[in-house]
Amino acid sequence: MKMPLNLVAAMLLAMAVCMPGATPAGAADAVDLSKVPQLKETPEQREARMQWFHDAKFGMFLHWGPVALSGKELSWSRYANRPWDINGKMLPSEPDYNYDHLYEKFNPVKFNADEWVKIAQEAGMKYMVLICKHHDGFSMYDSKLTEYDIMATPYGKDIVKQFADACHRAGMRLGLYYSTRDWYNPDYLVGDNVKYDQWYRGQVEELLTNYGKVDLLWFDHVGGQNWGLWKFDELFSMMYRLQPELIVNNRAARFCGPKTPEDKGPATPAIKKMTDGDFGTPEQAVGTMDLKHSWESCMTLVGGQWSWQPNGKMYSFEQTFDILVSCVTGGGNLLLNLGPMPSGEIEGRQVALLKQVGDWIKPRAAAIYGTRGGPFRNGKWGGSSHRGNTIYVFAKEWQGDVLSLGAVPQKITAAKKLTDGSEVACKQTDTGVELTLAAAGRDPFYTVIALTLEQPVPDGTVIEGVR
Ligand code: GLC
Repeated sequence: MKMPLNLVAAMLLAMAVCMPGATPAGAADAVDLSKVPQLKETPEQREARMQWFHDAKFGMFLHWGPVALSGKELSWSRYANRPWDINGKMLPSEPDYNYDHLYEKFNPVKFNADEWVKIAQEAGMKYMVLICKHHDGFSMYDSKLTEYDIMATPYGKDIVKQFADACHRAGMRLGLYYSTRDWYNPDYLVGDNVKYDQWYRGQVEELLTNYGKVDLLWFDHVGGQNWGLWKFDELFSMMYRLQPELIVNNRAARFCGPKTPEDKGPATPAIKKMTDGDFGTPEQAVGTMDLKHSWESCMTLVGGQWSWQPNGKMYSFEQTFDILVSCVTGGGNLLLNLGPMPSGEIEGRQVALLKQVGDWIKPRAAAIYGTRGGPFRNGKWGGSSHRGNTIYVFAKEWQGDVLSLGAVPQKITAAKKLTDGSEVACKQTDTGVELTLAAAGRDPFYTVIALTLEQPVPDGTVIEGVR
């Protein structure tokens, strides 16, 4: 019986708020924010917390749920009202019966989390982010706060648990996706929203309590007419109490008002800062080069759809690593999305493509992992990354046999093709760097050239790219 537990949890939460010591009487807003990193970290402390993420470059996003049975888009194919959403449409107020009953047939008996992790590793991915609850409100884990979860399916086993355990076993960084926006829960944005606000924080608490170390939390939008409907200070203080090193994206409060003149936006600068999170999330597009702020492009491998699309058009191998290189050289990460099938397996053609990408990365790994974007401004010609005394130029478009780049202040002492160590002719002047390599000596698509410098290029330096 889960509903009574739900009630108990709600009561406990309510009691905690009133408990002396936890919240002084009459100061209901006084939440202890002392552990929230965004509020007091030095730049060095922040970089130490964010380092694995900045080094990782490439992750796997997994949009999955009973909807895979329909082959349609997760949540968005559910034909029902979407309360107070920025994309809100006046859809029927009666929920979509078929969609909401798909879980009764969800039985992914071929789901093997270790297999998924292996696929990610072979693709050269360093972290994975799994949908735990999307906007359709279905929990892919054993939540004590709802009946609408994986335990109610014929499958009846906690997906998130298996996934988290497999990631931990393999040393894979673990990311969990949670959509605050919920079109199924009847309390979402009803009245003062207190009931829903407490409930979803309870769900986030479950996720950060029951699955061991969680490296990253990926929120996906809220809604509502004003910020006052959400207790983000309670949310963030709870999150870092449970997972002190957590990295959080920038969507915990995304799409909150202000939409009315009364709503002036986040109540305090602290709430603004916390909910801005640790990194930006350009969606279905490569982020513009930005070496000052952390970012991660999330993009779907197949058909522009997040969940499984049978026969959807898949990016080619070249397009996929083009996207990856653009992210890496622009200072960001790529979170590439796959939609597993209803059986729990990942489509063979997707696995094959990822393997090809992984094989392409291997001899170029030094130019990708642990680097930082730039200094050369990336573009159609290619881009660059750097680490220590080395700049890695990803050269795609040449002018004949020449690539003319902007001026580098540090002296270049060597230029070599990364894949075989062969010398590349390099002329350095006050006005630029000129690399010369005949077509026969280049690799297909990108030739990665390592430039050794006398001193390192400081992170954040931007030099114009092709002149
Ligand atoms: C959007 C979509 C959602 C998807 C997400 C990933 O917010 O609503 O379907 O999960 O982006 O970035």
